[in-house]
Amino acid sequence: MVKLMNDKLFSEAKKFIPGGVNSPVRSFQAVGGYPVFVKRASGSRIYDECGEEFIDYCLSWGPLILGHTHPEVVGSLEQAVKSGTSFGTVTKLETELAKIIVEAIPSIEQVRLTNSGTEAVMSAIRLARGYTGKDKIVKFAGSYHGHADYLLAEAGSGAATLGIPNSLGVPKDFTKHTVVLPYNDIKKLQEAVKAYQKDLAAIIVEPVAANCGVILPKDGFLQALRKIADKYNIVLIFDEVITGFRLSLGGAQEFFNIKPDLTCLGKIIGGGLPVGAFGGRTEIMQFLAPEGKVYQAGTLSGNPLAVTAGITTLKILKKNKPYLALQKKTKQLCEAIEAKARQNKIKLKVNYIGSIFSIFSRSTNLFNRLYHGLLKEGIYLSPSSFEANFLSTAHSFKDIKKTEEVLDRVLKKIERK
Ligand SMILES: Cc1ncc(COP(=O)(O)O)c(C=O)c1O
Repeated sequence: MVKLMNDKLFSEAKKFIPGGVNSPVRSFQAVGGYPVFVKRASGSRIYDECGEEFIDYCLSWGPLILGHTHPEVVGSLEQAVKSGTSFGTVTKLETELAKIIVEAIPSIEQVRLTNSGTEAVMSAIRLARGYTGKDKIVKFAGSYHGHADYLLAEAGSGAATLGIPNSLGVPKDFTKHTVVLPYNDIKKLQEAVKAYQKDLAAIIVEPVAANCGVILPKDGFLQALRKIADKYNIVLIFDEVITGFRLSLGGAQEFFNIKPDLTCLGKIIGGGLPVGAFGGRTEIMQFLAPEGKVYQAGTLSGNPLAVTAGITTLKILKKNKPYLALQKKTKQLCEAIEAKARQNKIKLKVNYIGSIFSIFSRSTNLFNRLYHGLLKEGIYLSPSSFEANFLSTAHSFKDIKKTEEVLDRVLKKIERK
C-alpha cells in the first residue's frame, strides 16, 4: 500500500518534473526506488502521504538542527507572515540576523545574505577575485560547493552520487580557472600553489568534507591552508554551509580554532527556509556593491520569513548551547552502528563529528539493502553514502535505541542472504 502510493505519486511527479524531484536531485537514483513523499513532520519524525512515520536523520540535508516544526520557529513565522512576505528594501530583522552571525562566527565582521548556499559560495568567490585581482581558485575533489558551473569539477554530493562530478553543459573554459586537488594532501597543495601562486585568488574548502562521506581534516591540514594563504596573499574561504552553527555556535572555525578570510553559510541560518550568507573582514566585504565594485544582489535576499526563522533558530542555539549533548547522542548512535555491523560481520565505515555522520560501505549493493531495510522499518537516512546524516535536538535517546534495534534486525537479514 505504502509502496503503491509513493510509486504512484512519483510516476505522476515524473510527468511534470524532470526525474520527479527538485531538492533531492542527488538522491534515490543511488539507492534505487522512489522518494518518500512527505506530508508533514514534527520533531525527529517525518510522515509520508500514507501516514507512515520515519525517524529522520536527513533533516532536509542539515538545516533542521532543532528538529521539524519547532514550536518557537513556527510561532515566529506565523507572526512574521502576517506582516508581509517580501519587501525588496531593508528590515531591522536583517541587521538582527547579521549581528547574531557576526557575534557567533569568529572571522566574520560583516555579512551579506543570499537565498542559497550556492549563491553564497558564488558571491564569495567573485568577491575574492575582485579583492585580489586574480582569477584561479583551488577546490578539493569530492567537495561540494553548490552548483555554479566552475565548481562542478570533481564535485561531491549529488554529482558524485550520480557519477557526474563534471556536469554536461559546463564549457571547459568555465572550469579552466578551477584547480582541483586531493583533500587533506598538503604536499600537493604546496606544489600547486607554487605553480599558480601569481594567479590564485582563493582556496575554498569544506573544513569537514561532508559531501563525499564525512571526511575529517587531518591534523595540520586546515592550519597549512591558513599558512599558505597568508604567505601567497590568497583568500581562504571556509564553506561552512553544513558546519556553520552545526559543529559549534562558531562553526568549524571555532571548533578547529582557525580563522578563514571569508565564510559561506546556509542551511541552519535559515531555520529550514531558503537562505545563504557569506561574510568576513570588513576590509574585504567593502569591495561588495553598492560600496565596492564587486556586483552582488538578489530580489529575495534577506527575505523576512527566512530571516525570522533564522533568528529564532540561532537565538535558541545561543541560549541552549546543545552542542555537547548532540555530540554525545551522535557518538552513541555511531558507535552502536559500528558495533552492530561488527557483530553481524558486515563491513561498514561510520564517520562522525559533532552531530554529522555518514555510513559507508564499499559495496553499493550492501548499502542499498541496508538503506531500504531501514526505510521499511521507519528509519530515514540521507539516500546515498556520499551524503551526510544529522541529529537534531529533537532526537531522543529513545529514538537512538529504536534505530539500534531496527539496525540490528536489518543487518541480521542482510547477513543471512
Ligand atoms: C558545503 C556546501 N556548500 C554549498 C552547498 C550549496 O547549498 P544550497 O544547496 O543551499 O545551494 C551545499 C549544499 O548541500 C553544501 O553542502
